[in-house]
Amino acid sequence: MVWKRIVSTKALDNAGGHFSVSVGGNTIFVARGKDGYHAMDAVCSHAKCILGVYNADDLTVRCPCHNAKFDLSTGRMLEPPFVAPNAPKDKLGLKLFKIRDNEGFLEVDVE
Ligand code: FES
Repeated sequence: MVWKRIVSTKALDNAGGHFSVSVGGNTIFVARGKDGYHAMDAVCSHAKCILGVYNADDLTVRCPCHNAKFDLSTGRMLEPPFVAPNAPKDKLGLKLFKIRDNEGFLEVDVE
C-alpha cells in the first residue's frame, strides 16, 4: 500500500461533499456519503472527462460530458453515455481507491 495524504477531513465535513484531486499519478474523485468516504478514478472511461455530478443519496456520480452514471461503491458503470447507448457497461467500470481518515487527514492508497 502507498498511502498519500490529500487534504484535511474538514474539506468533507458533511455527506454530499466531493472534489477531484491529482495524486500519485491519478486523478481521483473523492466524496463523502452517509456511510463514510469514497474514492474512485475521476477520469470517465468513455471519453476521459473529469467526473462529476455527485448524488450522495444513492452514491452515484454522473459524467458532465455525456451523462454516464457510475456507482461510487463498486466503480461499475450503471448507465451508458447518451451518445453511446450500446456501450459495453461491464467493461467501462472505474477503479476504486482505498481511502482512510488518518488523524484528521484523508489519505488514499494509490498503489
Ligand atoms: S466522457 Fe463521460 S460520458 Fe462521455
